[in-house]
Formats: sequence, structure tokens, C-alpha cells
Amino acid sequence: MRYEKPTRANPTMRRKDPRRVNRVTKTHLSPTMRRKDPRRVNPAPREWAVDFEGPTAHHDPCCQKPPWGLSPVRRGLTGLPGFVEVVSESRAGETDEASGPGLGRIRRPCEPRRWPGGSRAMEHGRRGRSAILLLLGVSLGLLGGGIAGAAEPAAPTRSLTKMNYGKLPDGTPVELYILRNGDLTVSVMTYGAIVTKIVVPDRSGKPDDVTLGFDTLEGYLGPHPYFGATVGRVANRIAGARFTLGNREYRLAANNGPHSLHGGLKGFDKVVWKAEPVESDEGPSVRMSYRSPDGEEGYPGNLDVSVTFTATSDRALRIDYVATTDQSTPVNLSNHTYFNLGGQTTKNILEHELMIEADRYTPVDATLIPTGELAPVAGTPMDFTRPTPIGQRIEEVGGEPTGYDHNYVLRSGGKTLALAARAFDPATGRILEMLTTEPGVQFYTGNFLDGTITGKGGIVYRKHHGFCLEAQHFPDSVHHPQFPSVILEPGSTYRQTTIYRFLTR
Ligand code: BGC
Repeated sequence: MRYEKPTRANPTMRRKDPRRVNRVTKTHLSPTMRRKDPRRVNPAPREWAVDFEGPTAHHDPCCQKPPWGLSPVRRGLTGLPGFVEVVSESRAGETDEASGPGLGRIRRPCEPRRWPGGSRAMEHGRRGRSAILLLLGVSLGLLGGGIAGAAEPAAPTRSLTKMNYGKLPDGTPVELYILRNGDLTVSVMTYGAIVTKIVVPDRSGKPDDVTLGFDTLEGYLGPHPYFGATVGRVANRIAGARFTLGNREYRLAANNGPHSLHGGLKGFDKVVWKAEPVESDEGPSVRMSYRSPDGEEGYPGNLDVSVTFTATSDRALRIDYVATTDQSTPVNLSNHTYFNLGGQTTKNILEHELMIEADRYTPVDATLIPTGELAPVAGTPMDFTRPTPIGQRIEEVGGEPTGYDHNYVLRSGGKTLALAARAFDPATGRILEMLTTEPGVQFYTGNFLDGTITGKGGIVYRKHHGFCLEAQHFPDSVHHPQFPSVILEPGSTYRQTTIYRFLTR
């Protein structure tokens, strides 16, 4: 059933809206946020200003056409996936103080459209300050609606939205958090702390998702090469799937030939993280936490990990990692997002130009284990000290399958947050800058993508469809004492900050 806009002839239509039931759900605000919540005076938000029949967003999973033929609204009402909860929201020109964290918290399907002129009135109504203003708002809204769609208010400058994203086969629910800041939208889910989407404009302002992955949770539950995932306890390879710490040898699952890759059979990319929105001046932010128990995947010690994703005002996804342990253990966390700055396209990334702030890299053997050498990039196809098309020398790199899959030794040495790499897509003008506090970055050109995976929007992912810039300590560091150590001791805290920032040219 479509919910029609009220008209002058029938202004009471809204009152008949069946969706007026139970709009307010449990709070997801931190105690501090709650204190600031202006709705504490009158906690029941007036949802009449929210249009539930908004347009659906391309590729927005919560707006997928439900297979059983119900509208997203109806799905939400029946408790099935599809409802979102706006945890906080603020608009251009309004300070957080005035409209800030906790304003929204309205259950609604994604991409809601507001009645023209209505959202301002909604805020007045919520605060219960003035019935006159409320009426004025309604009238202006109706008038505005009657005149033209041009009165549509600006989209929220910042918002943090939570929605149900489905369930694992064992019934564990998975949540998706959508962080919006200006023209940047980042979606991250609690399964694998996976970044499912990063939407940014191209040089003409056209927004598109620049990541590889799937449209639904089901895709991520099947086999895939860590699309968007948080990887750990140890990103990249550990030779022979074993290491010695103290006097003890620890054995890991060999999930990559004889080696351990990205944390093992069930790494951090396959566990469900606990999520909570956090307050940040930089933008909407969600913290994902996970306790990796002693012995998990063969690693010693209980490891408490948190990964905080923030959509910042300078159009960047900032990822802050923190970890502590109760026993010595190796820790090397990373994010495995595959980028294609062309957006949702069938074109590969070989024409992207890349610059990496590294004069050396760690050469590998045939099984991609570092030899231990730190070799100069100068005079080799590994040299990206100047912007160079990724495809220009890729055939000379060798390997089976061919392509870049190498750790670069960053000039910063991991001592400070510094620019690590910059990629540019000449076709769309999008630029990705990566900054990190880590000493290395794994540049991987999706060499193992072979057309067997169909991802978002039905796009078949063939070789080199995406590239990864994985901030990290060097691969197999546990066997190379000359590499920066990955061992975390009890009483110390592991910290990493990595930023993916988007620009255009
Ligand atoms: C590794 C690749 C691997 C890819 C997907 C990268 O970090 O370096 O060798 O194929 O992840 O697992």
C-alpha cells in the first residue's frame, strides 16, 4: 500500500497512516550523546515529517526490491530486514548543538524523502517549543509541496544510520551502519567489520560506489577474497603456518598452500563484531569491537580489538585500530577494501595512475613469502615513486598469476601518520589518498580475481578489476627479526590509524 501525501482536500490522511505504530525503538546513543539529546523533553519523535515512500538508492542493500513483493516499508513493519534507524543526523548550516547527535532515531526505510519544508518543522515539533511554528511548518510544507519540488531541504550533512542487514545461518543478526558526511557515504557491517560501500562523487559531482563487494549479506557469506574486510589477527602470510614465541611453537591453520593467510580459516573477517556509535567531532563514527579468545585460530592470548570507522568532513574514511592482549601475541591488522575509482563499472583499474611513498619493497618467493630483503624499487616495475599507470609495467612484474602483490616499505617508517599512496582515475577524475601510521602497505591488483565472482550490480570481477592498499606491518614478520616487530605484549597497546581520503581533479 502506498502512503499518499496529504492534500489540502484531505489533510488528515497522515493520521490514518498505519505506520504510526511503534516508531521509536531502543536508544543506541552513548550516555553522553543521550544527555545532549534534545528529545529528552519529549522523547516521542513526531514522524509525520518523514516520507516513507522515498526513492530507492541504486545498490543500497536496504533498498533492494524485496523478492516477496512487499515495499521496503511493509518489510520494515513486519520486522523483516529493511528498517533503518537514524541514530544521529545534522544538516548543513546547523550545529551539532542545535540538531546534533540523537536528533533522528526514527525508524524508517532507507533513502527517505522529506515533505518539502517539513524537516525543519519536524525539529521544532520534536523540541516541543512552539505549536505555532509547528502549524506554520506544516502549512509551509504543504504549500511548498504544492508549488514545486525545489523546496526540498538539503540532505543531512551528517548522519549515522543503523539497519538490520540479515542473519548468519546460525541466526546471529548482522547490522549495517551507514555513515554520511557531506557527499561521502560509507557503509560498514558487523560481519567481518566489512566496509561494504564507499560512495563519493566524480569530477562532475556524480556519486558512485568505488568498492568491490556484494549487494547483500549472502554474497559476503560465500567464498570471496576479503572484500572490504577487517583482517587479523595477522594480515597477510605467516610462512609454514607456524611461529615460535618464547620457547613455544604455535601452529596455525594452513589456508594458503602451506601458509597461513589473513588470520586463518576464521579470521576477523568472518566473525560478528559488536558495534556502537561513538561521538566524534570529525563526523559520524561507529566502533566495532571483538574479543579474540586465547587459542583462537592457534594464536596465544585473549586479544581485545576495536576498529573505529569515521566518515570525516574532508571526505575521508578514517579507520582507528586499538588492541590489547593478556599474553604476547602477533598482531597485524588491516583493511582489505578493493577499490575501483571508476565506480560500478566493468572497466579494470589498469589505467589508474598510482604513486606510492616508498623507495623499497619486500621481494617475495614464488609462494609470496618475503625473502627478507628490502630491495630498491628504482629501475624496476615496482617503482611508483612518480605517478604511473598501474598497467604500464604490470606484465613485467611476473608471478602466477601476474600482477602486483607486494609490500612496500613506506618512507615514513610507520613513525607518524603520513601519506602512503595516491591513486588517480583519469576517466572519472577521482583521487584516492591513503595515509597511515603503519610502516608498510600491500599493493595488490586483484590478480586472483578470475571472473568466478559476480559482485555488486551483477558485475563480473575479472583480473585487475580492483586494487587494494592494505596498511600493515610487513608480511611474515614473525620470521624476520629485521622487520618491525608485530609482537604485542601485555600492558602495551596496539594502535593504527589509516585514512582513505577522496578528492577529484
Ligand atoms: C594478498 C594476496 C591475496 C589477497 C586476497 C592480499 O593481501 O597479498 O596474495 O590473494 O590478499 O586474499
